[in-house]
Amino acid sequence: MAKKQQDRIGDPNERADDRDLELSLRPRRFDDFVGQRVAKEQLEIFVEAAKQRGDTLDHVLLAGPPGLGKTTLAGIIAQELGVGMHTTSGPALERKVDVAGLLTNLQEGDVLFVDEIHRLNAAVEEVLYPAMEDYEIDIMIGEGPAARSIRMQVQPFTLIGATTRTGLLTTPLRDRFGVWQRLEYYEIEELAAIVTRSAGILGVEIDRESALEIAGRSRGTPRVANRLLRRVRDYAQVRHEGVIEHDICLAALELFQVDGEGLDKLDRDILKTIAHKFDGGPVGLDTLAVALGEEADTVMDVYEPYLIMQGFLKRTPRGRVLTRSGFIHCGLTPPARGDTLFDDL
Ligand SMILES: Nc1ncnc2c1ncn2[C@@H]1O[C@H](COP(=O)(O)OP(=O)(O)OP(=O)(O)O)[C@@H](O)[C@H]1O
Ligand SMILES: [Mg+2]
Repeated sequence: MAKKQQDRIGDPNERADDRDLELSLRPRRFDDFVGQRVAKEQLEIFVEAAKQRGDTLDHVLLAGPPGLGKTTLAGIIAQELGVGMHTTSGPALERKVDVAGLLTNLQEGDVLFVDEIHRLNAAVEEVLYPAMEDYEIDIMIGEGPAARSIRMQVQPFTLIGATTRTGLLTTPLRDRFGVWQRLEYYEIEELAAIVTRSAGILGVEIDRESALEIAGRSRGTPRVANRLLRRVRDYAQVRHEGVIEHDICLAALELFQVDGEGLDKLDRDILKTIAHKFDGGPVGLDTLAVALGEEADTVMDVYEPYLIMQGFLKRTPRGRVLTRSGFIHCGLTPPARGDTLFDDL
């Protein structure tokens, strides 16, 4: 499916220009990982307990929206366990032999990280079941009528699965994970701590007000926080000898069109499209996607969640509807109270 790439500063998904920097900013140990207190503490305990017993850690499922630290946590777990990490993803594992090859190459206790695990195909999943349960795989030997399957042992390993869509995981797969953690959006103070930490690594001076300013516009997402920091740093470097002070930070964020709620231009375009072209809705997802020149999936998975979370947009059985605060945020007057538009919300 061809997807139009827009330069979206608020996109929670990893973009090409994030990659190098994310590597250097990615925490390597639990101690450097900010926030997600409950998930982090539980994982720390399970890791420590497995290490003390000399056991292999149970399979771990990490769920949550993009950019909240699933890949980061998988890396930390492997690092803290002191084992190797092998990384793959649901869409990359196309054939049974791909997964069999990976599994037979694992050393005892290694972590196999499967990103986007909800996108595994059924045949590959079937290979994983006995592997996860008994560290065994079935391999086909020979071809045609002479083909037969033999059972083979693999080394005990820990599968860490990451998914943005738990609902799409099949039940048999889900049931084979001993540990489940759901990552939540971050608090402003946590994001400010992440921004400050990242600024330190990048060697940029930033004051507390600016760290909080960036944090407040980061949509609860560390990846977005780091991206905003990077852009603000560029601005400060060119316009202000590199130091990020509050007025410089505000000017930069205004230039990049990220508003006080963390909405970028495209977010506001979505709200305005619904307001202007569809009288505030309801409008069906497909119609809205066409009006925006976007894929329906992208609108639903990438753009809408934050707008819904902020209460600017609602999904109703009849389609998408702009809420009262959605109108206000676009600088428009919402229809009078009692208008049919809001009756069934
Ligand atoms: N708790 C955290 N503390 C500090 N930095 C973090 C934290 N969580 C994430 N980050 C930063 O945000 C970036 C994105 O995190 P990560 O790649 O782990 O997200 P993800 O959940 O795997 O996203 P995706 O669903 O797109 O794969 C990392 O490079 C890291 O720099
Ligand atoms: Mg990831």
